[in-house]
Amino acid sequence: MNLIDNICSEFTKRFGNQFILIEAPGRVNLIGEHTDYNDGFVLPAAIDKAIWLALNLNNENRVRLFSVDMNEEYEIELSTSLNKSGKGWPDYILGVVDQLQKHGMETTGFDCVFGGNVPIGAGLSSSAALESGVLYGLAERNGWEISLMKMAQIAQKAENEFVGVQCGIMDQFASLNGKAAHALKLDCRTLDYEAVPLQDPDFKIVLCDTGVRRELAGSEYNIRRQQCEKGVSIIQETHPKVKKLRDVTLKVLKDHKDKMEPVVFDRCLFVIEENNRVLDACEDLEQNDIDAFGEKMFLSHDGLKNKYEVSCKELDVLVDIARDVDGVIGSRMMGGGFGGCTINLVRTGSVESFKDIIQKSYKAETGLDTEVYVTAISDGTRLVDKPKEESFKVLEI
Ligand code: GLA
Repeated sequence: MNLIDNICSEFTKRFGNQFILIEAPGRVNLIGEHTDYNDGFVLPAAIDKAIWLALNLNNENRVRLFSVDMNEEYEIELSTSLNKSGKGWPDYILGVVDQLQKHGMETTGFDCVFGGNVPIGAGLSSSAALESGVLYGLAERNGWEISLMKMAQIAQKAENEFVGVQCGIMDQFASLNGKAAHALKLDCRTLDYEAVPLQDPDFKIVLCDTGVRRELAGSEYNIRRQQCEKGVSIIQETHPKVKKLRDVTLKVLKDHKDKMEPVVFDRCLFVIEENNRVLDACEDLEQNDIDAFGEKMFLSHDGLKNKYEVSCKELDVLVDIARDVDGVIGSRMMGGGFGGCTINLVRTGSVESFKDIIQKSYKAETGLDTEVYVTAISDGTRLVDKPKEESFKVLEI
């Protein structure tokens, strides 16, 4: 049975055959790492790896959940103050419900069965996809008119306040707003965005998974955020109008170098350079100069490794191998860091040899296997057709 049939069948078995089916994609980020929470620019895109959720409201005051991938269920009474589940995955859903309550949008109880093919903890935002999918489904069933951008803000807050990761808005934004064949240039301050065409038969987006997992909540992410805020507070003493690193030029930062701990200076330097890189890289795309774009991906990786210090040995190995492979346009670590995937732009004719070389060399250098995914850019979170009822009713017997 395929995954979607399995989800529908599980829902039917547990809660009846009335439900909607939602597809919520994971995301890649072409360039612009750790810039979102500094009010800067990012360039993400939704991908053809997703979480599918079967969902319906129930007449009981209970939330009943089942994760097909974990083969685990979770059930809770909807009360005014929700607490963490102690299990991990239900918190992304409870966090959304908690935020809805805080926004005065009370939902009745609901049932949800979900599963997906976004590798967990691989930097492809499976958690944002889950939050986005559940929120989208609840809005749909409750008849709430919430814009996709508002949904992204609510889902981000769910993660900030309930899960406890101080993430920016990029992942939830991309999962909800994605547009096939386009990357999204988002201004994380104004939340204005532009869809930039990014489909070219000449190259492919290839992801290489280190296999290394480290949760963002492992505190390093929050520490980076604090270091950026520290830099801003020092600059504010002489430039009170500065609110975030977005407002700081390289010159102003350098003028304050002596007042900062070196580590704070390096963090700020990376963010300001990376933010400038996003803008320049978008111009490269406009000029159809994909090689210049790729160069900036390598520079982004160098900064993440040396100045922001969120890379790890395995990510560096993957990027270093990629650098020397014919047909690789650009390569860098992606997402929060410390594990997960690299994103690579590879000329179409070289994808197969790239796969082969990277798998062999990575194994030789680290003893680990790398999973390689050639991805396509997809639309954002949406309702999808259920498979024909017969296809899962039969299997239910
Ligand atoms: C994680 C966060 C995002 C963003 C990236 C780094 O994916 O969820 O908000 O900060 O890290 O660019």
